[in-house]
Amino acid sequence: MKPPQYYEGREQTYLKHFFLENYLERVAYIIGYSHPQFVYVDGFSGPWKSADEAFEDTSFIIAIQKLRQVKEGLRRVGKEPRVRCLFIEKDRRAFEDLQRAIKEVTDLEIQVLNGEFEALIPDVLRFCGSSFSLIFIDPTGWTGFGLRKIQAILQRRRGEVLVNFMFDHINRFLDDPRPEIARTFDELFGGPGWEDAVRQGEGREKAIIQLYCDRLRVVGGFQHVTSTRILKPTADRSYFYLVYGTRHIKGLREFRGIERKTVAEQERIRLAAKQQARVRRTGQAELFDAREIPSLDRIFQKNRVVQHTRATERLRTLLRNKRRVRFEVVLGTLLEMPLIWEDDIQGIVRDLRDAGELCIAGMNPRERKIKEHHFLVRDPSGNQNDF
Ligand SMILES: C[S@@+](CC[C@H](N)C(=O)[O-])C[C@H]1O[C@@H](n2cnc3c(N)ncnc32)[C@H](O)[C@@H]1O
Repeated sequence: MKPPQYYEGREQTYLKHFFLENYLERVAYIIGYSHPQFVYVDGFSGPWKSADEAFEDTSFIIAIQKLRQVKEGLRRVGKEPRVRCLFIEKDRRAFEDLQRAIKEVTDLEIQVLNGEFEALIPDVLRFCGSSFSLIFIDPTGWTGFGLRKIQAILQRRRGEVLVNFMFDHINRFLDDPRPEIARTFDELFGGPGWEDAVRQGEGREKAIIQLYCDRLRVVGGFQHVTSTRILKPTADRSYFYLVYGTRHIKGLREFRGIERKTVAEQERIRLAAKQQARVRRTGQAELFDAREIPSLDRIFQKNRVVQHTRATERLRTLLRNKRRVRFEVVLGTLLEMPLIWEDDIQGIVRDLRDAGELCIAGMNPRERKIKEHHFLVRDPSGNQNDF
C-alpha cells in the first residue's frame, strides 16, 4: 500500500488500510496453509476518493496485492490454495473503474458485481460456497448492511466479518427525531432498542459500540466480537470503529495483534498530522519531527491503563462466578476487550497469582507461559484437592 504521506488529510483511511492489509495477510496465510481455499469479499469496494491512477490507495487493490504476496509465500512452503475475491460496488461509474482496474489480474480469481450489497447476499453465499471467508463491510454511512438483511452471510460457519462502524457520522444522526431516520437505525442494529444506548450521557459512545457488538454477536452467532478504535487525525475523538466477528480464538488473537501494530502506527501518524496542522496554523516550521519526540500525549497508552484495570476486574469476576476457569476461556473473554493484548493477560494472571488471589493449575515448573489448557483457580489457600 501507499506510504502515510500519500494519505495526508485522510490519515484515518491510511490506518483502515493498514489494519486491513495486516489482518488480511494473517488470516489468508493461516487459512491458506491449512485449507484448500480462502475467500475475501469486499461488499462496498469502491474505488472511492482514490488519489491514485492505479488505485493503490483503495482497499480492493491493497487486498489484491497482499493476497498475491500471501499466495506466493504459501507456494514457497508447498501450499497452493485457491484464493478468490468478490468485489461489490453499487455506483455504476465506480464499478466501471473497478472492472477496468482488475482486468489485468490473472493470478487470483476475482469476480465483480454491480449492485447493492444487501440485495446480493444470495450471490455472496453462492460465491463463498463452503470455503472460509472474510467479509469486509466498509460503507459510506450506516445503511446498506442491516444486520437482519445480511444475517445469512454472518451466520456462515466458516466465516468472519470486519465492519467499519462509522461512529462519528452515525452519532450525529442518532438523535434525529425523524421516524424515517430512526427506521434506518433499526436496520443497522437489527431491530429497535438502540434508543437506550443513545440516552447514556457520558457513556454513550461505549454503549453504542457495545450494543452493535452485542447485536452482531447474536445475529451472526459469533463466538467472539470485538472492536478497535480509529481516531480523528488531529482531534482526540473517535472517527470510526472496526468491528470484528469471529468463531475462533485464533482470529481474536490475530485481531488484537494487528490492533497493537495499528495503535503504534496511529500514535505516530497522529503526532505528525497534529504537527502539520500546527505548522499550517502558525506558519512556523518546527525544529523536530513530532514522530521522533517521546510524547505524553499518547492517548492509547492512557486508554490501555484504564483497560488494564478493567481486565483485572473482569478476571476477578470470572473467578468469583466459577472457582476454576480454563485459561482459554480467560483469554477469549479478556481478548475481546480493546487494547488488551496477550502479554497483558499473562501479566495480569501472574500478578494475581503473586498476590495470592489465584493458582495456575496444570503448569509444570519449567513452563514460563500460561497455556490454553491450564486452569486458573481462585482462593489457592482453600481446598487444594480441587486442583
Ligand atoms: C467508503 S467507500 C469504500 C472504500 C473502500 N473500501 C476503500 O477503503 O478503498 C464505500 C463504497 O461503497 C459504495 N456503496 C455505497 N452503498 C453501497 C451498497 N449499498 N452496496 C454496495 N456498494 C455501495 C460506494 O459507492 C463507495 O464506492
